[in-house]
Amino acid sequence: LKLSAEEAICKAASLKELDELRVGILGKKGELTEIMKGMRELSKEERPVMGQLANEVRDSITEALEKKMIEVKEKEKQERISSENIDITLPGRKSSSGRYHPITETMNMLKEIFIEMGFDVAEGPEIEKTEYNFDALNIPENHPSRDLQDTFYMSDDVVLRTHTSPVQVRYMKDKKPPFRMVCPGKVYRSDYDVSHTPMFHQMEGLMVGENISFANLKAILTEFVKKVFGDTEVRFRPHFFPFTEPSAEMDVQCVICKGKGCRLCKDSGWLEIMGCGMVDPEVLKAVGYNHEEVSGFAFGMGIERVTMLRHGIDDLRAFFENDIRFLKQFK
Ligand code: PHE
Repeated sequence: LKLSAEEAICKAASLKELDELRVGILGKKGELTEIMKGMRELSKEERPVMGQLANEVRDSITEALEKKMIEVKEKEKQERISSENIDITLPGRKSSSGRYHPITETMNMLKEIFIEMGFDVAEGPEIEKTEYNFDALNIPENHPSRDLQDTFYMSDDVVLRTHTSPVQVRYMKDKKPPFRMVCPGKVYRSDYDVSHTPMFHQMEGLMVGENISFANLKAILTEFVKKVFGDTEVRFRPHFFPFTEPSAEMDVQCVICKGKGCRLCKDSGWLEIMGCGMVDPEVLKAVGYNHEEVSGFAFGMGIERVTMLRHGIDDLRAFFENDIRFLKQFK
Protein backbone atom coordinates (compact mmCIF):
# COMPACT_ATOMS: atom_id res chain seq x y z
CA LEU A 1 0.00 0.00 0.00
CA LYS A 2 2.73 2.41 0.93
CA LEU A 3 4.57 1.90 -2.34
CA SER A 4 1.53 2.10 -4.58
CA ALA A 5 0.32 5.19 -2.74
CA GLU A 6 3.66 6.89 -3.09
CA GLU A 7 3.77 6.09 -6.78
CA ALA A 8 0.29 7.51 -7.34
CA ILE A 9 1.21 10.66 -5.42
CA CYS A 10 4.30 11.09 -7.51
CA LYS A 11 2.27 10.92 -10.74
CA ALA A 12 -0.51 13.23 -9.62
CA ALA A 13 -0.40 16.46 -11.62
CA SER A 14 -3.04 18.65 -10.04
CA LEU A 15 -4.26 19.66 -6.61
CA LYS A 16 -7.56 18.02 -7.39
CA GLU A 17 -5.96 14.62 -8.10
CA LEU A 18 -3.92 14.89 -4.91
CA ASP A 19 -7.01 15.59 -2.88
CA GLU A 20 -8.79 12.57 -4.39
CA LEU A 21 -5.82 10.40 -3.43
CA ARG A 22 -5.80 11.72 0.12
CA VAL A 23 -9.47 10.92 0.55
CA GLY A 24 -8.99 7.49 -1.05
CA ILE A 25 -6.23 6.52 1.39
CA LEU A 26 -6.55 8.55 4.55
CA GLY A 27 -10.20 9.61 4.38
CA LYS A 28 -13.00 8.17 6.54
CA LYS A 29 -13.43 5.26 4.19
CA GLY A 30 -9.87 5.30 2.86
CA GLU A 31 -7.76 2.18 2.38
CA LEU A 32 -5.45 2.81 5.32
CA THR A 33 -8.34 3.83 7.54
CA GLU A 34 -10.04 0.52 6.75
CA ILE A 35 -6.89 -1.39 7.65
CA MET A 36 -6.61 0.46 10.94
CA LYS A 37 -10.24 -0.32 11.70
CA GLY A 38 -9.51 -4.02 10.99
CA MET A 39 -6.85 -4.07 13.72
CA ARG A 40 -9.49 -4.66 16.37
CA GLU A 41 -9.65 -8.26 15.22
CA LEU A 42 -5.92 -8.85 15.72
CA SER A 43 -4.41 -10.58 18.72
CA LYS A 44 -2.90 -8.66 21.63
CA GLU A 45 0.64 -9.38 20.44
CA GLU A 46 0.09 -8.39 16.84
CA ARG A 47 -1.79 -5.16 17.55
CA PRO A 48 1.10 -2.90 18.76
CA VAL A 49 3.38 -4.08 15.92
CA MET A 50 0.77 -3.49 13.24
CA GLY A 51 -0.31 -0.24 14.90
CA GLN A 52 3.14 1.16 14.78
CA LEU A 53 3.57 0.06 11.19
CA ALA A 54 0.26 1.61 10.17
CA ASN A 55 1.17 4.90 11.88
CA GLU A 56 4.47 4.98 10.06
CA VAL A 57 2.79 4.35 6.74
CA ARG A 58 0.23 7.06 7.46
CA ASP A 59 2.93 9.58 8.39
CA SER A 60 5.02 8.89 5.35
CA ILE A 61 2.02 9.06 2.99
CA THR A 62 0.92 12.33 4.61
CA GLU A 63 4.38 13.73 4.24
CA ALA A 64 4.59 12.65 0.60
CA LEU A 65 1.20 14.22 -0.06
CA GLU A 66 2.23 17.51 1.48
CA LYS A 67 5.51 17.65 -0.38
CA LYS A 68 3.80 16.94 -3.68
CA MET A 69 1.11 19.50 -2.91
CA ILE A 70 3.69 22.28 -2.52
CA GLU A 71 5.37 21.16 -5.73
CA VAL A 72 2.12 21.18 -7.70
CA LYS A 73 1.09 24.54 -6.30
CA GLU A 74 4.39 26.06 -7.34
CA LYS A 75 4.12 24.54 -10.82
CA GLU A 76 0.57 25.83 -11.30
CA LYS A 77 1.69 29.27 -10.20
CA GLN A 78 4.56 29.27 -12.71
CA GLU A 79 2.21 28.21 -15.48
CA ARG A 80 -0.24 30.96 -14.60
CA ILE A 81 2.50 33.58 -14.59
CA SER A 82 3.85 32.56 -17.98
CA SER A 83 0.40 32.38 -19.57
CA GLU A 84 -0.55 35.82 -18.26
CA ASN A 85 2.66 37.36 -19.38
CA ILE A 86 2.40 41.09 -20.22
CA ASP A 87 4.98 42.70 -22.41
CA ILE A 88 5.59 45.96 -20.58
CA THR A 89 7.86 47.21 -23.36
CA LEU A 90 4.92 47.51 -25.83
CA PRO A 91 3.85 51.10 -26.50
CA GLY A 92 0.50 51.94 -24.87
CA ARG A 93 -2.70 52.37 -26.86
CA LYS A 94 -3.86 55.99 -26.92
CA SER A 95 -7.44 56.46 -25.78
CA SER A 96 -9.28 58.97 -27.94
CA SER A 97 -11.61 61.35 -26.19
CA GLY A 98 -14.38 63.44 -27.71
CA ARG A 99 -14.22 67.20 -27.96
CA TYR A 100 -16.43 70.17 -28.63
CA HIS A 101 -17.43 71.07 -32.17
CA PRO A 102 -15.52 74.27 -33.15
CA ILE A 103 -18.81 76.20 -33.28
CA THR A 104 -19.73 75.12 -29.74
CA GLU A 105 -16.22 75.86 -28.57
CA THR A 106 -16.32 79.40 -29.99
CA MET A 107 -19.81 79.94 -28.61
CA ASN A 108 -18.63 78.92 -25.12
CA MET A 109 -15.62 81.20 -25.39
CA LEU A 110 -17.70 84.23 -26.42
CA LYS A 111 -20.27 83.59 -23.71
CA GLU A 112 -17.49 83.32 -21.14
CA ILE A 113 -16.03 86.68 -22.21
CA PHE A 114 -19.37 88.47 -21.89
CA ILE A 115 -20.22 86.78 -18.60
CA GLU A 116 -16.90 88.10 -17.27
CA MET A 117 -18.01 91.59 -18.32
CA GLY A 118 -21.22 91.22 -16.34
CA PHE A 119 -23.61 90.15 -19.11
CA ASP A 120 -26.58 87.87 -18.53
CA VAL A 121 -27.13 84.98 -21.01
CA ALA A 122 -30.68 84.58 -22.38
CA GLU A 123 -32.30 82.16 -24.79
CA GLY A 124 -35.54 82.16 -26.75
CA PRO A 125 -37.57 80.03 -29.16
CA GLU A 126 -36.33 79.24 -32.68
CA ILE A 127 -39.91 79.26 -33.93
CA GLU A 128 -40.91 82.89 -33.43
CA LYS A 129 -43.76 85.35 -33.97
CA THR A 130 -43.27 87.82 -36.83
CA GLU A 131 -44.19 90.41 -34.23
CA TYR A 132 -40.94 89.76 -32.31
CA ASN A 133 -38.78 88.80 -35.28
CA PHE A 134 -39.75 91.90 -37.31
CA ASP A 135 -42.40 94.38 -36.08
CA ALA A 136 -40.98 95.17 -32.65
CA LEU A 137 -37.58 95.65 -34.29
CA ASN A 138 -38.82 98.35 -36.59
CA ILE A 139 -38.58 96.16 -39.68
CA PRO A 140 -41.46 97.39 -41.83
CA GLU A 141 -43.88 95.20 -43.74
CA ASN A 142 -42.12 95.82 -47.05
CA HIS A 143 -38.54 95.35 -45.85
CA PRO A 144 -36.56 92.96 -48.12
CA SER A 145 -35.50 90.68 -45.23
CA ARG A 146 -39.16 89.74 -44.80
CA ASP A 147 -39.22 88.42 -48.31
CA LEU A 148 -40.11 84.77 -48.75
CA GLN A 149 -36.64 84.21 -50.22
CA ASP A 150 -34.89 84.93 -46.94
CA THR A 151 -37.40 83.91 -44.31
CA PHE A 152 -38.82 80.47 -43.65
CA TYR A 153 -42.49 81.10 -42.94
CA MET A 154 -44.40 78.60 -40.81
CA SER A 155 -47.61 80.57 -41.29
CA ASP A 156 -48.59 84.21 -41.89
CA ASP A 157 -47.37 85.33 -38.50
CA VAL A 158 -44.92 82.61 -37.41
CA VAL A 159 -41.37 82.17 -38.77
CA LEU A 160 -38.12 80.38 -38.06
CA ARG A 161 -36.27 83.28 -36.48
CA THR A 162 -33.91 84.99 -38.93
CA HIS A 163 -31.74 86.45 -36.16
CA THR A 164 -31.52 86.28 -32.36
CA SER A 165 -32.82 89.85 -31.96
CA PRO A 166 -36.35 88.64 -31.00
CA VAL A 167 -34.77 87.24 -27.82
CA GLN A 168 -33.81 90.83 -26.98
CA VAL A 169 -37.40 91.94 -27.50
CA ARG A 170 -38.63 89.19 -25.17
CA TYR A 171 -35.98 90.10 -22.60
CA MET A 172 -36.86 93.81 -22.66
CA LYS A 173 -40.58 93.06 -22.26
CA ASP A 174 -39.71 90.92 -19.26
CA LYS A 175 -37.11 93.03 -17.45
CA LYS A 176 -36.50 96.60 -16.41
CA PRO A 177 -33.28 98.47 -17.26
CA PRO A 178 -30.46 98.71 -16.43
CA PHE A 179 -29.20 95.39 -17.76
CA ARG A 180 -26.72 93.85 -20.13
CA MET A 181 -27.38 90.56 -21.87
CA VAL A 182 -26.24 88.31 -24.71
CA CYS A 183 -28.41 85.83 -26.59
CA PRO A 184 -26.66 83.01 -28.46
CA GLY A 185 -28.51 80.51 -30.65
CA LYS A 186 -29.48 79.01 -33.99
CA VAL A 187 -31.06 81.14 -36.69
CA TYR A 188 -32.50 80.31 -40.12
CA ARG A 189 -32.42 81.91 -43.55
CA SER A 190 -33.32 80.45 -46.89
CA ASP A 191 -29.90 80.71 -48.45
CA TYR A 192 -27.22 78.22 -49.52
CA ASP A 193 -23.79 78.70 -51.11
CA VAL A 194 -20.08 78.72 -50.07
CA SER A 195 -20.66 81.35 -47.44
CA HIS A 196 -24.30 80.71 -46.46
CA THR A 197 -26.11 77.79 -44.85
CA PRO A 198 -29.86 77.74 -44.11
CA MET A 199 -29.12 77.29 -40.40
CA PHE A 200 -26.32 79.11 -38.65
CA HIS A 201 -25.48 80.54 -35.22
CA GLN A 202 -25.55 84.06 -33.92
CA MET A 203 -24.79 85.83 -30.74
CA GLU A 204 -26.32 89.20 -30.17
CA GLY A 205 -25.99 91.50 -27.20
CA LEU A 206 -27.85 94.39 -25.66
CA MET A 207 -27.05 96.89 -22.93
CA VAL A 208 -29.74 99.32 -21.77
CA GLY A 209 -29.71 101.91 -19.00
CA GLU A 210 -29.43 105.62 -18.27
CA ASN A 211 -26.88 107.46 -20.42
CA ILE A 212 -25.62 104.45 -22.34
CA SER A 213 -23.67 105.92 -25.24
CA PHE A 214 -21.82 104.96 -28.39
CA ALA A 215 -18.60 105.36 -26.38
CA ASN A 216 -19.78 102.49 -24.13
CA LEU A 217 -20.47 100.40 -27.23
CA LYS A 218 -16.98 101.04 -28.59
CA ALA A 219 -15.33 100.28 -25.25
CA ILE A 220 -17.13 96.98 -24.66
CA LEU A 221 -16.79 95.70 -28.23
CA THR A 222 -13.13 96.69 -28.54
CA GLU A 223 -12.39 94.90 -25.26
CA PHE A 224 -14.32 91.86 -26.51
CA VAL A 225 -12.42 91.69 -29.81
CA LYS A 226 -9.06 91.92 -28.01
CA LYS A 227 -10.04 88.95 -25.85
CA VAL A 228 -10.93 86.88 -28.92
CA PHE A 229 -8.21 87.91 -31.39
CA GLY A 230 -5.49 89.32 -29.19
CA ASP A 231 -4.12 92.84 -29.44
CA THR A 232 -5.38 93.94 -32.85
CA GLU A 233 -6.69 97.12 -34.49
CA VAL A 234 -10.44 97.63 -34.89
CA ARG A 235 -12.53 100.09 -36.86
CA PHE A 236 -16.20 101.08 -37.09
CA ARG A 237 -17.85 101.85 -40.42
CA PRO A 238 -21.25 103.54 -40.73
CA HIS A 239 -24.01 101.16 -41.76
CA PHE A 240 -27.77 100.77 -41.64
CA PHE A 241 -30.01 98.48 -39.55
CA PRO A 242 -33.73 99.16 -39.03
CA PHE A 243 -33.42 98.57 -35.27
CA THR A 244 -30.38 100.74 -34.49
CA GLU A 245 -29.60 104.40 -35.14
CA PRO A 246 -26.83 105.24 -35.71
CA SER A 247 -25.60 101.86 -36.92
CA ALA A 248 -22.14 100.57 -37.70
CA GLU A 249 -20.21 97.55 -38.80
CA MET A 250 -17.13 96.61 -36.86
CA ASP A 251 -13.97 95.33 -38.55
CA VAL A 252 -10.83 93.74 -37.10
CA GLN A 253 -7.47 93.85 -38.76
CA CYS A 254 -7.02 90.73 -40.89
CA VAL A 255 -5.80 87.87 -38.70
CA ILE A 256 -3.72 86.42 -41.57
CA CYS A 257 -1.93 89.37 -43.21
CA LYS A 258 -2.20 91.90 -40.34
CA GLY A 259 -3.52 94.60 -42.64
CA LYS A 260 -1.21 94.06 -45.60
CA GLY A 261 -3.86 92.47 -47.79
CA CYS A 262 -4.51 88.81 -48.59
CA ARG A 263 -7.16 86.48 -49.97
CA LEU A 264 -9.04 86.16 -46.66
CA CYS A 265 -9.63 89.92 -46.40
CA LYS A 266 -9.87 90.39 -50.18
CA ASP A 267 -6.80 92.65 -50.02
CA SER A 268 -8.55 95.19 -47.82
CA GLY A 269 -6.58 94.30 -44.69
CA TRP A 270 -9.82 94.25 -42.66
CA LEU A 271 -12.39 91.61 -41.72
CA GLU A 272 -15.96 92.48 -40.88
CA ILE A 273 -17.01 90.79 -37.68
CA MET A 274 -20.26 92.29 -36.49
CA GLY A 275 -23.11 94.76 -36.83
CA CYS A 276 -23.91 97.16 -34.03
CA GLY A 277 -25.50 100.46 -33.13
CA MET A 278 -27.58 102.48 -30.67
CA VAL A 279 -31.01 100.94 -30.08
CA ASP A 280 -33.57 102.82 -32.21
CA PRO A 281 -36.10 104.78 -30.11
CA GLU A 282 -38.85 102.97 -32.04
CA VAL A 283 -37.62 99.66 -30.60
CA LEU A 284 -37.52 101.04 -27.05
CA LYS A 285 -41.07 102.34 -27.51
CA ALA A 286 -42.29 99.01 -28.87
CA VAL A 287 -41.32 97.25 -25.62
CA GLY A 288 -42.79 99.99 -23.44
CA TYR A 289 -39.60 101.79 -22.39
CA ASN A 290 -39.34 105.56 -22.18
CA HIS A 291 -36.71 106.49 -24.76
CA GLU A 292 -36.22 109.87 -23.03
CA GLU A 293 -35.03 108.09 -19.88
CA VAL A 294 -33.05 105.13 -21.14
CA SER A 295 -30.84 104.37 -24.09
CA GLY A 296 -28.84 101.36 -25.15
CA PHE A 297 -26.61 99.72 -27.67
CA ALA A 298 -26.95 96.40 -29.48
CA PHE A 299 -24.65 94.21 -31.53
CA GLY A 300 -24.84 90.94 -33.38
CA MET A 301 -22.37 88.53 -34.93
CA GLY A 302 -22.29 85.20 -36.77
CA ILE A 303 -20.56 82.47 -34.76
CA GLU A 304 -19.51 80.56 -37.89
CA ARG A 305 -17.80 83.67 -39.18
CA VAL A 306 -15.98 84.36 -35.92
CA THR A 307 -14.87 80.69 -35.82
CA MET A 308 -13.60 80.88 -39.41
CA LEU A 309 -11.60 84.00 -38.62
CA ARG A 310 -10.17 82.52 -35.42
CA HIS A 311 -8.96 79.36 -37.16
CA GLY A 312 -8.39 80.64 -40.71
CA ILE A 313 -11.05 78.30 -42.19
CA ASP A 314 -12.21 79.34 -45.64
CA ASP A 315 -15.18 77.05 -46.28
CA LEU A 316 -18.27 77.43 -44.13
CA ARG A 317 -19.65 74.06 -45.18
CA ALA A 318 -16.82 72.22 -43.35
CA PHE A 319 -18.67 72.95 -40.10
CA PHE A 320 -21.70 70.96 -41.15
CA GLU A 321 -20.15 68.00 -42.96
CA ASN A 322 -18.81 66.57 -39.69
CA ASP A 323 -15.78 65.03 -41.35
CA ILE A 324 -13.87 63.61 -38.39
CA ARG A 325 -10.54 64.63 -39.97
CA PHE A 326 -11.67 68.25 -39.94
CA LEU A 327 -13.18 68.14 -36.44
CA LYS A 328 -10.11 66.43 -34.92
CA GLN A 329 -8.00 69.52 -35.58
CA PHE A 330 -9.72 71.52 -32.88
CA LYS A 331 -8.88 71.07 -29.23
N1 PHE B 1 -29.78 91.37 -36.09
C1 PHE B 1 -28.72 91.70 -37.00
C2 PHE B 1 -28.55 90.57 -38.01
O1 PHE B 1 -29.12 89.53 -37.87
C3 PHE B 1 -27.40 91.90 -36.28
C4 PHE B 1 -27.41 93.13 -35.42
C5 PHE B 1 -27.83 93.05 -34.11
C6 PHE B 1 -27.01 94.34 -35.92
C7 PHE B 1 -27.85 94.16 -33.32
C8 PHE B 1 -27.02 95.47 -35.14
C9 PHE B 1 -27.44 95.38 -33.83
O2 PHE B 1 -27.86 90.74 -38.96
